Amino acid sequence: MTKIQSELPIFYETAHAELASALEMLAACKVTNSPKQALGYFMHAKDEYNHARYFFKMLSIRGRRSSIETARDFRFTPPSLITKGYISNKGFLVEKMMLKDFIAFVYTNELLAKSSFEKILNLVGRSTEEGKKISSIMTDELRHHGMAKKYFLKHYPALQPYQLMIYRLRETLNNRGRKIYDANLKFLDRLLTPLYRILAFVAGTLARKVNLSEFKREGKNLMEISSNSIL
Ligand SMILES: [Fe+2]
Ligand SMILES: [Fe+2]
Repeated sequence: MTKIQSELPIFYETAHAELASALEMLAACKVTNSPKQALGYFMHAKDEYNHARYFFKMLSIRGRRSSIETARDFRFTPPSLITKGYISNKGFLVEKMMLKDFIAFVYTNELLAKSSFEKILNLVGRSTEEGKKISSIMTDELRHHGMAKKYFLKHYPALQPYQLMIYRLRETLNNRGRKIYDANLKFLDRLLTPLYRILAFVAGTLARKVNLSEFKREGKNLMEISSNSIL
């Protein structure tokens, strides 16, 4: 597997995750009644948009160096945020979760994001331009984690460390579940694509064999054509 082939799926998934975080943070910004919290969510959303934009940029650089077929597989369409499970079609997290769970979700996910960025950093190389940008994204993620942690400990001081561990475990399992779901979709795609191609081939062959001259109306008395005719 070439370097680009291993980079493309990782950048593609990360771009989705970053954009989904940006949308989740904007949704949280809209529903909060506290101006201070709204500003925090807004700045967080802005960071996530910038992260997503950078991953899309890295994707497009690699897309230009790949074959059309490969580039097509990694083309972004907004509905894939939902089909891939990054955004739920039942609503944003802030609408579905209690505030406590939502902050814990942010708290754990930002930490998990940092560890997945470590892998990306190894892929692109720490000293490259891209590596430096990834390092600055990691600093952002740690800042988000720190802000959520501060909020959490201030508002829910009675929370035990093991409870945060449970949150973290749950999110790790959710992330794994998303990967399995994605792998299943890819498997089905591999299975069904030859079938679609066979059907298209059969339909094309049939269409070629149909005598289209029968469909010409010129010089024909339409009154004499049978009422069952498709003309
Ligand atoms: Fe991010
Ligand atoms: Fe973040």
